[in-house]
Amino acid sequence: MSILDQFDLSGQAAIITGAGSGLGREMALALADAGCDIVGVGRRREPIDETGEMVTAKGRRYFGRPGTDVTDSSQVNAMVEDAIREMGRINILVNNAGLGGSGRGKTLPELTDEDWQSGIASNLDSAFYCSRAIVSHMLDNGGGRIINITSGWGFRGGRNNFMYSVAKGGVIQLTKGLAMTYARDNIRANCIAPGLFPKTDDEAVIRQIGEKQPAGRPGRLQEIGPLAVYLCSEASDYMSGETVLIDGGAIAAGVTPAGVVPLVEA
Ligand SMILES: NC(=O)c1ccc[n+]([C@@H]2O[C@H](COP(=O)([O-])OP(=O)(O)OC[C@H]3O[C@@H](n4cnc5c(N)ncnc54)[C@H](OP(=O)(O)O)[C@@H]3O)[C@@H](O)[C@H]2O)c1
Repeated sequence: MSILDQFDLSGQAAIITGAGSGLGREMALALADAGCDIVGVGRRREPIDETGEMVTAKGRRYFGRPGTDVTDSSQVNAMVEDAIREMGRINILVNNAGLGGSGRGKTLPELTDEDWQSGIASNLDSAFYCSRAIVSHMLDNGGGRIINITSGWGFRGGRNNFMYSVAKGGVIQLTKGLAMTYARDNIRANCIAPGLFPKTDDEAVIRQIGEKQPAGRPGRLQEIGPLAVYLCSEASDYMSGETVLIDGGAIAAGVTPAGVVPLVEA
């Protein structure tokens, strides 16, 4: 058996939230390359269908579940039921959907209850709702893997960046709680903390962002794929509760996206 066989996800199925764009789409394609069938979840139909075309072009099964708001637990429960019925089983959940939130950049007194709740809901409630909805199925089927997506902001304080950094810090703690609770049930939970992964092809913008990064460049979206496959596969079977930074050394260097002072505007 080759070492690479441990990364094989053939015969498995993954739910990926926010699969229609950015890092979520890249993880869907990487898992599909490794042999995994994909359930793509998001609110808008078009991007979810586009990801579906890319996944099926790789010869994998795809079930698109647009029209799902992962901040609504009843929609999440229905999505998970549909995914299990459609795929027969779900081995992997990737809680990727998340947003900066409406209140990002506002000062503390300016923040409304709605700003606070929407930022926490899209980044943290969503991961809790999806994990809660899938865990009984994983227990009944001998285990599973949960990957949560946090951010460098889950580690550092940010000026006027309350909901995002609080929620992403919570995602790290949620991961540890899941890992500890299900450590003897073959359910592993790990977290990925991406640095800056711009979604533009504009070379000037990418160069400008890169100037403040230790590596001299930001992340490329496709660089998330191998890490996601590793954390979803047998290759990482003794890892759980871990948060893996993929940021070109930014946190190690003490660098923030804005340079020395952690301003949210950058
Ligand atoms: N890119 C970065 O530099 C970076 C850095 C650190 C962490 N992250 C984290 O990585 C994850 C992906 O970010 P990204 O940069 O790839 O962003 P993105 O391209 O904006 O993707 C976010 C995806 O989540 C979906 N989504 C958002 N809210 C949702 C909701 N309530 N219900 C269902 N789906 C929802 C969106 O689709 P719909 O709008 O159609 O629902 C979208 O496809 C996020 O958790 C983000 O916080 C990103």
